[in-house]
Amino acid sequence: MFIAEQTTPLYSTLARRFPRLIGSEYLGSDVPRGSVSPAGLRNEDLTALSFGDGTLDCVLTFDVFEHVPDYRKALRECFRVLAPGGTLMFTVPFDLASERTIVRAVVQPDGTTRHLLPPEYHGDPVNAGSGCLCYQVFGWELITDLRNAGFSEAAVHMYWSRDYAYLGGDQLIFTATRQANIAGGAVPQSEGILMRPIPLWDRDPRFNEIMKSITYTLVDRIRCYMLYQFAMQAASLEGEVAEIGVYRGGTARLLASAFDSSGKTVHLFDTFEGMPSTDPDRDAHHKGDFSDTSLESVQRSLEGCGNVAFYPGFFPGTAPPIAGLKFSLAHIDVDIYRSVLDCCEFFYPRMVAGGMMVFDDYGFESCPGAKTAVDEFFRDKRERPCYIPSGQCIVIKL
Ligand SMILES: C[S@@+](CC[C@H](N)C(=O)[O-])C[C@H]1O[C@@H](n2cnc3c(N)ncnc32)[C@H](O)[C@@H]1O
Repeated sequence: MFIAEQTTPLYSTLARRFPRLIGSEYLGSDVPRGSVSPAGLRNEDLTALSFGDGTLDCVLTFDVFEHVPDYRKALRECFRVLAPGGTLMFTVPFDLASERTIVRAVVQPDGTTRHLLPPEYHGDPVNAGSGCLCYQVFGWELITDLRNAGFSEAAVHMYWSRDYAYLGGDQLIFTATRQANIAGGAVPQSEGILMRPIPLWDRDPRFNEIMKSITYTLVDRIRCYMLYQFAMQAASLEGEVAEIGVYRGGTARLLASAFDSSGKTVHLFDTFEGMPSTDPDRDAHHKGDFSDTSLESVQRSLEGCGNVAFYPGFFPGTAPPIAGLKFSLAHIDVDIYRSVLDCCEFFYPRMVAGGMMVFDDYGFESCPGAKTAVDEFFRDKRERPCYIPSGQCIVIKL
């Protein structure tokens, strides 16, 4: 954890609680970054941090970014030093009514400061006398700035607490998280712009609307987005849709919504009583895992979806009613060797050309049998299982 303050009671309190906490102050551009002054203060410039890529779990700054003229560069730096899954948490002066950030002062190319509004100085913990110039008061575009800096999730929280006597006014705290489960590693830059995928999963209105209706799923947002896109592709093919491994109905609801106007039925298979017997030599799961569900509760959570059919019980024992159908999409999320192999044997000959078999758990250490089954089954087939960094694997029928 890194906090951009070191002379404050907050730093001292947190340092007692988190012994590996690193604190710093900004001691100026003449002091080497990352160096420690005779007084024991570490110098860090938020626009050029001394930390390596992906080395921190948490970055904390409280009322600092308003004093950094190029705050967007600082946000990119915070993103760079955070490990996948890491969080930036901060406060800044914020105008809830303003879409745009209000720029009060800028640094000109010759290094001088030009004031666009009367100068405003805030307390400086290092130089008590002079104070720190406030360059900007933030508006809602800060959320976009955070996304552009690379953060997959950016949020502002309002809080109150009777116990801590935070009772009045708009008390805001911002959090921004670096995506955890997409292929990690350092993010290269070109011309100062981060070479990272645009988080389209956050920007697709229909996908986001559907995700709001899902109360619980084991499948993370990126995998849901991949599945949603495959569903959009399958919608223009002949053939029905099936999901094997429904559990509490999360991805089932995603599929039902994605196909709601396609005329296709989404056929849903699960014991709805937990995992069947597993193979201890191949699987990490045990019989009875995921038993905290029921057919009735899943039916309730899919109420209003008119395009679903339920097949409770052990698959492939429950498959005969759909044996005569062709499929455009099979979402196989059963986690264990025998079940994945049974799904391959049943669905592969029933997939239409261009139809997709999506194996949700292929790349997960918790489901080693899933990968073994897919690799074994497709060894002598023309199709190649394509592994996606989300952890899924897709086979497109030729
Ligand atoms: C990981 S969960 C599915 C997660 C779900 N797709 C979601 O959105 O959260 C795996 C499910 O596969 C089911 N399952 C595994 N093998 C099965 C089989 N042979 N027949 C029926 N259900 C099976 C389990 O009962 C369990 O509910």
